[in-house]
Amino acid sequence: MEGISKEEVGQALDFCAEHIRRYLPDFTCQFQNAFSVNNFYEPAENDDWTNGFWTGEIWLSYEHTKDGAFRQAAEIQIESFLDRINRKIVVDHHDMGFLYTPSCVAGYKLVHSEKGREAAIKAADQLISRYQPKGEFIQAWGKLGEKGNYRLIIDCLLNLPLLYWASGETKDSKYSEIAEKHLHTALRNVIREDYSTWHTFYFDTETGEPDHGATCQGYRDGSAWARGQAWGIYGSALAYRYTKKEEYKEAFYKVTEYFLNHLPKDMVPYWDLEFTEGSEEPRDSSSASIAACGILEMAKYLTEQEAENYRLLARKFMKSLYDNYAVKEHSSSNGLVLHSTYAKSSPYNTCNNHGVDECNLWGDYFYMEALTRLHKDWEQYW
Ligand code: GLY
Repeated sequence: MEGISKEEVGQALDFCAEHIRRYLPDFTCQFQNAFSVNNFYEPAENDDWTNGFWTGEIWLSYEHTKDGAFRQAAEIQIESFLDRINRKIVVDHHDMGFLYTPSCVAGYKLVHSEKGREAAIKAADQLISRYQPKGEFIQAWGKLGEKGNYRLIIDCLLNLPLLYWASGETKDSKYSEIAEKHLHTALRNVIREDYSTWHTFYFDTETGEPDHGATCQGYRDGSAWARGQAWGIYGSALAYRYTKKEEYKEAFYKVTEYFLNHLPKDMVPYWDLEFTEGSEEPRDSSSASIAACGILEMAKYLTEQEAENYRLLARKFMKSLYDNYAVKEHSSSNGLVLHSTYAKSSPYNTCNNHGVDECNLWGDYFYMEALTRLHKDWEQYW
């Protein structure tokens, strides 16, 4: 497969920005829901783990066009994020990084939004309040310290850049120290011997010792949930960015290799890597965009030859997404990328079907981020 060309990257970004501009009036004072229904997002409150991606798409559109209408809309949304953290609306979970990085940290980095800065630091405080010294990890969900919830999840690797940013801003190392501890615990435990990954990992509440892995959104406990593996790719690249530890670079190579070895021909995975070429199961196109972002991040720290190979890989992911998964007509969807899967029920997991074979907000956001990374030397939000 060939990689996406420079010209196609530019065209794809032009389309995304124009698409977002058209739907912006509907989604400035309210957000898009986490996933579409029949490829259309409905309006939603700022009360899910996904709202930051929509604001992130608006910031990326602003970066691409410099059109003040995007900035204005994103700044309105920052007010909503500040209100949310001030009033603690559905923030009793670890997803503060997903929420506050592409919205508020981005706003601070791009236009020096002081409200964005205030909101993001408060979100970082909220995130470290979930740190469990016994086990040295940030508890993902549920009541703190509860046995049935005493676990981390692989997705949390993307919440950690918020903590590194907060330490840089406040000159208080308490945030990055917790990020470092969590990274160490997470990458030691979620990566299996064959370099597939656990979605979630439990610890003993009394001793803090690693206990067992389990899936939540994957097909079964021992399988590799496609998006979990993709979070592992991007998460290990970010871990290397912030720590420069060789073991995290090694983790990146291996987790990426496992992902690549379990892809169908067009490089867009089924929702769980258990399923391969020819399966009738739905895809998770968002995993391909997340993997592309992680690969482009890591390419920055590799030798030129190695980086070139990885960049070509990312361009192949994006070519496949652009040709066969991206929305091409403004009227056919209000999302950007089709054929993602949020959660799918299986005989071995406890999920209900949510957003199966639909657009979802992180699929759209990371598609745009990967394009932006290919388009210019991007000063990243994460
Ligand atoms: N972080 C939740 C998900 O990837 O579905």
